Amino acid sequence: MTELLPADPEGIARAAELLRDGALVSFGTETVYGLGGDATNAAAVAAIFAAKGRPKFNPLISHYPDTIKAFEDVTPNAIAHSLAREFWPGPLTMVLPRTAECRVAMIAGAGLDTLAVRVPAHRDALALLAAVNRPVAAPSANRSGQVSPTTAAHVLDGLRDRVAAVLDSGPCAVGVESTVLDLSGARPILLRPGGVTLEAIEAAIGPIDDGATDGAMRSPGQMASHYAPSLPVRLNAETAADDEALLAFGPAPRHAGTIFQLSEVMDLIEAASRLFDGLRWLDMEGGRLGLRGIAAKPVPETGLGRAINDRLRRAAAPRG
Ligand code: TXA
Ligand code: MG
Repeated sequence: MTELLPADPEGIARAAELLRDGALVSFGTETVYGLGGDATNAAAVAAIFAAKGRPKFNPLISHYPDTIKAFEDVTPNAIAHSLAREFWPGPLTMVLPRTAECRVAMIAGAGLDTLAVRVPAHRDALALLAAVNRPVAAPSANRSGQVSPTTAAHVLDGLRDRVAAVLDSGPCAVGVESTVLDLSGARPILLRPGGVTLEAIEAAIGPIDDGATDGAMRSPGQMASHYAPSLPVRLNAETAADDEALLAFGPAPRHAGTIFQLSEVMDLIEAASRLFDGLRWLDMEGGRLGLRGIAAKPVPETGLGRAINDRLRRAAAPRG
C-alpha cells in the first residue's frame, strides 16, 4: 500500500524516515515528481531501477539541499561554481567527476566516473532532503519510457504499490525536467534541454555546445522514444484530423474534437507547466473515444520551447 503523505512537517518527517530506511518515496520538485531513494544505499537504488523498469545503463541524478552538500560528492570547476551561484536552487543538473570519497552508490551513476547533481527549487523537497541528510537519487516518478508526472495522482497512476509513499506537494510549477549540462570535459555540453533555458545559461557562461552531435551519445539516458503516451503523436500539425486529438498552442485552434490548450497566449512557461498533464489527458480521452492519435501544434524552438520540443519529439519517436 502506497502512503499518500501531505507536505506538512509530519509528512516530510515520515518521508525522510522511509528514505533513511531504504524505502522509495516519490516527492514533488519544481520540475516533475521524483522517485527518490537513498543514493548511498545500493539496494535502495536498485529498487528504483526495478520500480521504473529502467535500463541499468541510464544513470540517476543525486539531489541535495544546498550547493555545499552537492559539491561534497563531485569536483566542481569554476564554471560549475558560477552556475550554482546563478541557478541553484533551480532546474539545472550538473554532470561532474565523482570525488574519491563520493558516497553515492556506483549503481546510481550506472558505473560512470561522473555524477549528475542538482539542488531543486522547491520548499518541501529541500526540507525533505535536509531531513534525510544523505544524497537522494531521483529519476522522474514514471514507468520508464512513459510520460513524466507533474502531480501526485500521475505518480500513483504509474507506480501505485511500487513506491512506499508519495509526498503530495501539489502540481509542479515548471513542468519539464531539469536542464542537464555535462561539465566534466573541456567544454560544457548540453545533454538535455530543460527548465533553465539555453539562453540563460549562455548569458551566464558564454556559448555552449548544444549536444546535437556527440551529446546524444554521451547521455546514456537520452533514448529516442521516451515520454510516450499510448497514442502516436504527430508533430508540427497545423490542423488535426477528425479522428485525432489536438495539442494546441496559440489562440483559436480550429478543431471540433478533443483539444488540450498548452497556452492560448503562446506563453512558453505556461505551456511547459501544462505539457505532461496535456499529453496524459489527451491520451486518456483519445483512448476512450477511440481516436487514432494526437496532433501537436508547432512550438517555437526558443527558451522553454527547446525542452517542450525535445519531449514532443521523443513522444513522437518510433517505439523501440
Ligand atoms: O528535473 C529532473 O531532473 C527530475 C527531478 C525528479 O529532479 N529528474 C529526472 O531524472 O529527470 P531522470 O532520471 O528522468 O533523468 C536524468 C537524466 C537522464 O537523461 C540521464 O541519462 C542523465 O540525466 N544523467 C544522469 N547522470 C548522468 C551522467 N553521469 N552522465 C550523463 N548523463 C547523466
Ligand atoms: Mg525521466
